[in-house]
Amino acid sequence: MLDRESKQGYSLMSKATSDQYANDIINYYESCEIDYRLLWRLDRCLALHFGYWDETTDGVSAALIRENEVLAQRAEITSDDLVLDAGCGVGGSAIYLAKNIGCQVHGITLVQKQVETARTNANQNGVGDLCEFSRQDFCAMDIADNSVDVVWAIEAVCHAEDKNEFVKEAYRVLKPGGRLIMADFWLSKDSYSADENRLLQEWVSGWSVNALEKSFKFKEYLKASQFVDIRIEDVSEHIRPSAKRLHDYAKYVLWGAKILEILRIRSRTQHGNVVAVHRQYKALNQGLWHYCFVYARKSQASE
Ligand SMILES: C[S@@+](CC[C@H](N)C(=O)[O-])C[C@H]1O[C@@H](n2cnc3c(N)ncnc32)[C@H](O)[C@@H]1O
Repeated sequence: MLDRESKQGYSLMSKATSDQYANDIINYYESCEIDYRLLWRLDRCLALHFGYWDETTDGVSAALIRENEVLAQRAEITSDDLVLDAGCGVGGSAIYLAKNIGCQVHGITLVQKQVETARTNANQNGVGDLCEFSRQDFCAMDIADNSVDVVWAIEAVCHAEDKNEFVKEAYRVLKPGGRLIMADFWLSKDSYSADENRLLQEWVSGWSVNALEKSFKFKEYLKASQFVDIRIEDVSEHIRPSAKRLHDYAKYVLWGAKILEILRIRSRTQHGNVVAVHRQYKALNQGLWHYCFVYARKSQASE
C-alpha cells in the first residue's frame, strides 16, 4: 500500500476543486447512480465509462472490461506497480487490475459513497488486500511526491476544473519513469459555432463537467510539465457503439423523463443526465469531440 509514513502531504502549488463544483459532481454521481445501475449494469460491470469495442467484444459488458485490458497493455502495467486510479468510480478498474495483473491500486474519488462501494466491491472480488480507496481530489492529492508507478484515469479528468492542475499533480506523484495513462473525451476542433457550443454545453453540463479541453491543449500541458514520450490516440470508433446505445435509450425515454421531472419524481440533475446521454452522440456525429487514449511518461533523472 502507499507509504503513509513517508507521505509529504499536499503539493503547496496545487489548486483544489472549488467546493461548489465538487458538490455538483458529488450530487451528480449520487443522484444518477440509479441510471448507471439500470442502463450500464453498474452492479455487475462496475464501470462508469464508455468501454472499448473491437473484434474481441460481443456486447457492452465485454467492452467495459476490454477498456481496462487495453489501457493496462498501453501502460505495460505489471504486478510490481503501484497504480493510482484518479477518479475511480465504484472501483471497477482497480479490481480488474488487482485481479488480472496482481498490482496494488489506490483509487480516489470525490464521492464518499463510491469509496465505500468500491471497498465492498473489492472485498467481494477477493482483492481487498491489493486495493485501497479514499476520498480525495485529484487536483490536490494527499499523496507523496515520486511515490506511484502509474497514474490511471478513465473519463475522470474531463471533470477537472483546471486540467493543467491534474497534469501537475500527476507529474508530482509519479516516480521518475512512471507512466500516466488516460481515456477521456476531448474537444476535437479549434473553434465552434454558437449552435455547436450549445449542443456541447447541453451534453457536458448534464454530466457535471464544467468544460471539455482540446486534446492538443492537453498535450501542451503535458509537455510543459516535462512529461516525455507523449502519445494521444484517437479511439473514437471504438466507443461509438456505446455512444449510440446510450443515445438510442435516451431517445425513447426523453419525453417520459421530462414528465417525471415536471412531476418532481426525477430531479433536474437526473433529467440533465438523460439529455446529456442523448446529446453526446449527436455531438460525436457532428465531429465536435473525440475520445482519446493519452499516454505520457515522467522522465528519468538521466533523460
Ligand atoms: C465517469 S466516472 C469514471 C469512474 C471510473 N474511472 C470508471 O471508469 O468507472 C468519473 C469519476 O471521477 C471522479 N472525479 C471527478 N472529479 C474528481 C476529482 N477532482 N478528484 C477525484 N475524483 C474525481 C468522480 O467522483 C467519478 O468517480
